[in-house]
Amino acid sequence: SVLSRKGLKTLIIDTDPGIDDAMAIHYAFAHAGLDVLGLTTIFGNVFAWQAARNALLLSEQAHYPLDVIEGASCPLTQPLNPPSHHVHGKEGFGDLPAQTPQGTPLAKTTDAYLSEVCRAHSGEVILCPVGPLTNIASLLRYDPGIVKHVKKLVIMGGAVWAPGNVSAYAEANIWNDPHAADAVFAADWDIDLIGLDVTQTIDCDDADFKALRQAAPEIGGFLHEISGFYIKFYHSVIDRHVCLMHDPSALIAITDDELFTYRTTPLSVVCSGEQTGRTVPDDSLDRRGVRVAVGADAAKIKARFLDICGQADKMKQLREMDVML
Ligand code: RIB
Ligand code: CA
Repeated sequence: SVLSRKGLKTLIIDTDPGIDDAMAIHYAFAHAGLDVLGLTTIFGNVFAWQAARNALLLSEQAHYPLDVIEGASCPLTQPLNPPSHHVHGKEGFGDLPAQTPQGTPLAKTTDAYLSEVCRAHSGEVILCPVGPLTNIASLLRYDPGIVKHVKKLVIMGGAVWAPGNVSAYAEANIWNDPHAADAVFAADWDIDLIGLDVTQTIDCDDADFKALRQAAPEIGGFLHEISGFYIKFYHSVIDRHVCLMHDPSALIAITDDELFTYRTTPLSVVCSGEQTGRTVPDDSLDRRGVRVAVGADAAKIKARFLDICGQADKMKQLREMDVML
């Protein structure tokens, strides 16, 4: 095959697409060093059924056939918070109206899918959650032994030594299911946490997405189109015409780890009261340390994003040819 998958990093992205999720997923699809086995989807930016539909649309847009599995529609314990349609749009892609994908999700639970795939590729799969962690906590309940088979997790979430974004204390993904996040941080597996400590400094503006459209008119054009709604939201809260590249930063931490610096600490999550969703560093905890990103070369990370996504159309055409070869 033209795109041999040997020597690639194998991953499953757990996602609530979502505008920055879409940017992260198209980055992963366009990156020749990654092999995305599947997208498991979760509530958060949109409802669970919208997340699954949007994941299928992204896969079809990029001609990147993979498994899409619809996950949890509500948190483990607390009631469902309303979706952040004001940030990502009513259908999850800004002002774009609802679209109907060709395909349908696999008729499986995310528990069964994640357990089977991570055991079949034992020690190889990187789990990359970029939404609430409900599916991941549910997997731990379903298959506690899975911690030995997952290579590591690279999670977009949390605000450890930085303020939150849905409250002074909490970042959205953790806040949307704090009980799940606490269970994930308590488990005995390796976690890299790419949170607001670094993603607040990684932003793109309309000129960046215009350049992306030039480089990749189809997929770059789509990302430019949906970025507008996201930039408008950020302008309303941080008074700058930029959007923060939360989810793409997690994928870039997988491909370009050297662009980040980390501090390792056990973490717990506040699950009630006004600080619900706060990720608390605590060395007295009997938990494996989480590698928390505390520094990032924002300029290089942004350049990587634009460079790789600028090749998205070309990579799609290669995959289309590959099928014909
Ligand atoms: O706080 C940012 C996170 O919440 C990102 O994953 C974004 O997509 C939303 O899910
Ligand atoms: Ca997300």
